[in-house]
Amino acid sequence: MATDSPGTEVDFANLSGPVLVLGGAGYIGSHTVRALERLGIPVVVLDNFSTGHPEAVNVPLVEASLADRETLARTFDEWEPRAVMHFAARCYVGESVEDPSIYYRENVIHAWNLLEAMREAGCQELIFSSTCATYGNPVALPITEENPQVPVNPYGRTKLHMEHMMEDYAQAYGLRFAALRYFNAAGASQEGDLGEDHSPETHLIPLLMQVALGQRDEIAIFGGDYPTPDGTCIRDYVHVEDLADAHLRALSRLQAGVHTLACNLGTGLGYSVREVIEAVRRITRHPIPERMTGRRAGDPPELVSGGSRALEHLGWRPARSALEKILSDAWRFHEAHPKGYSR
Ligand code: UFG
Repeated sequence: MATDSPGTEVDFANLSGPVLVLGGAGYIGSHTVRALERLGIPVVVLDNFSTGHPEAVNVPLVEASLADRETLARTFDEWEPRAVMHFAARCYVGESVEDPSIYYRENVIHAWNLLEAMREAGCQELIFSSTCATYGNPVALPITEENPQVPVNPYGRTKLHMEHMMEDYAQAYGLRFAALRYFNAAGASQEGDLGEDHSPETHLIPLLMQVALGQRDEIAIFGGDYPTPDGTCIRDYVHVEDLADAHLRALSRLQAGVHTLACNLGTGLGYSVREVIEAVRRITRHPIPERMTGRRAGDPPELVSGGSRALEHLGWRPARSALEKILSDAWRFHEAHPKGYSR
């Protein structure tokens, strides 16, 4: 039995699969596959390796895109998954503004392909990677689930479309789902073998690791004139293994009979870009040269999770998400894999 909060029984022993993990070779997907494997739950991964890494998974793999409805249907026939976890999506705000077509195709149309394949196969349990970007510019901080969902970029809009599709499929066809709205995923596995490896890299923490490794000369700070105490943006960083743990908990709630569930996954603590840089200096013992540049389009000044829905509904606590822990785990992975998984 896992740690419970009052009224929340999360019994990992009763979890059952197989679980089909879409995007299971990616950053958050691979850590969740690892967590499922640890519990002995059968897993199959479907991934097209557009951003994922075959080295990151050690379970049966189907190499395909969600555009390929035939392979998707065949995968449901062959593996008869009881549940699906859907990580396979595009996730860059800036790219979504420049080229929204990709986001509507991959995050909406492909997600609809999945919902149809699940309906045809009679598979009714779905855990979906949503995002704090569905809230847009928050009306209040910290951001609780009651905050209106009014996304301000195509990325957030496409993720919200999927939340709405799932609600309608739940109503009409009995789908049971959890929408997990991540704040800033960060960190790496305890074993040091799984971590963040995107190409090109755009996220603050892996970029700082690249500076510490001498692969970049400096970190650009995107704006020092925000209405925050030190003028730089504040984010809520959550350890990728805590995110993985929340997925198991959400699955167990669905399998215990919960129909739908939507909650934030964040720590409730925010750190500014400057605070993250300082912490990386301490951990890596590298001076990390910095350069102030202009704001990056679409960056809200502050995104911090509020409320206690994840604790109340999932019994979830972000146990590994102290900033120093996140950064030291990330540093261990990057030191061991200076060229990412290709090394
Ligand atoms: N930043 C810099 N310099 C860099 C990179 C980032 O100053 O070189 C800043 C950003 O402006 C931001 C903070 O560091 O203030 C964190 O940026 P990331 O790119 O690491 O993460 P984001 O907050 O932009 O993105 C995350 C998720 C998205 C999600 C978004 C919600 O990665 O999937 O939060 O706004 F949509």
